[in-house]
Amino acid sequence: MSYSLSQDLTNAQQRVNHFLAQKLTEYPRDNPDLIDAMSYAVLLGGKRVRPFLIYATGKMLGVELEKLDHSAAAMEAIHAYSLVHDDLPAMDDDKLRRGKPTCHIAFDEATAILAGDSLQTFAFELLGNDPTINVEQKISQIQWLAKSAGARGMCLGQAIDLQSENKAISLDELELIHRHKTGALILASVIMGFNLSDYAEDKNLEQHLTQYAKAIGLAFQVQDDILDVIGDSEKIGKTVGSDEALDKSTYPKLLGLEGAKQKAQDLYQVALNALEQIPFDTTALKELADFIVNRES
Ligand code: IPE
Ligand code: IPE
Ligand code: MG
Ligand code: MG
Ligand code: MG
Repeated sequence: MSYSLSQDLTNAQQRVNHFLAQKLTEYPRDNPDLIDAMSYAVLLGGKRVRPFLIYATGKMLGVELEKLDHSAAAMEAIHAYSLVHDDLPAMDDDKLRRGKPTCHIAFDEATAILAGDSLQTFAFELLGNDPTINVEQKISQIQWLAKSAGARGMCLGQAIDLQSENKAISLDELELIHRHKTGALILASVIMGFNLSDYAEDKNLEQHLTQYAKAIGLAFQVQDDILDVIGDSEKIGKTVGSDEALDKSTYPKLLGLEGAKQKAQDLYQVALNALEQIPFDTTALKELADFIVNRES
């Protein structure tokens, strides 16, 4: 049977959603509002691109899906936390996320801040409690997730993004923002799938996967910027024009819409070139790269 990305994406979504829902149900409800806000942020919608990358990379390298569940869920919890905080009034001040009121609107600001904090620690609890991997693998997953989420990864990108509002920055600076705020977690997703395989010591393979992941990570945010201009709010589940309203530094702003689209295509080619060096069945990763630059949501 031919490969279907949409089926594979649906499978990854269902798998990680089920796993996250289960873990959150087991969570003590000492403060129901806090747990409800965490669940609201992590369970209701989302493409699950990062879990997909963990599953697809691991599967390509022969890892059983059961060994990837905790890592996939942990990554999505970090991503969900990053979105909750990204939407706060102090950051992008957005009111719509995944087609619903943002967490601080549905609950309140303090609860949203704490739900984000709690999702972050929840992610590390999941990795720490993963019974399917050995101690070395656990440490490696924790190190990768921490590095990619924190002050040299996603948070660094978010900090420079906010400092770059109402300002003209260079293309190099913009690339630095995007590679961190979005690229870092996408790179970590691919590497965390790779890390749990029997090929985790293969530096050559790691290098090609890194090239692929960096290209799609940057392309993902370029397309996000494009959709903020020409997207359909119904489809993206977010307010269109949010970047312009905040005078954000984006690819369409620096390169124009056509230039941004070309940039995404160029990165797609870089990703494909990297995959050609990989002696495994890269169909899923290739299809995902295509999805990333052509998606409408
Ligand atoms: C949105 O990420 C924020 C960025 C890093 C661009 P996604 O587009 O993956 O959002 P969901 O998870 O599908 O809602
Ligand atoms: C990605 O940038 C932010 C994160 C790291 C969460 P954006 O601010 O452009 O993401 P959206 O458009 O609000 O989803
Ligand atoms: Mg932002
Ligand atoms: Mg935002
Ligand atoms: Mg955006």
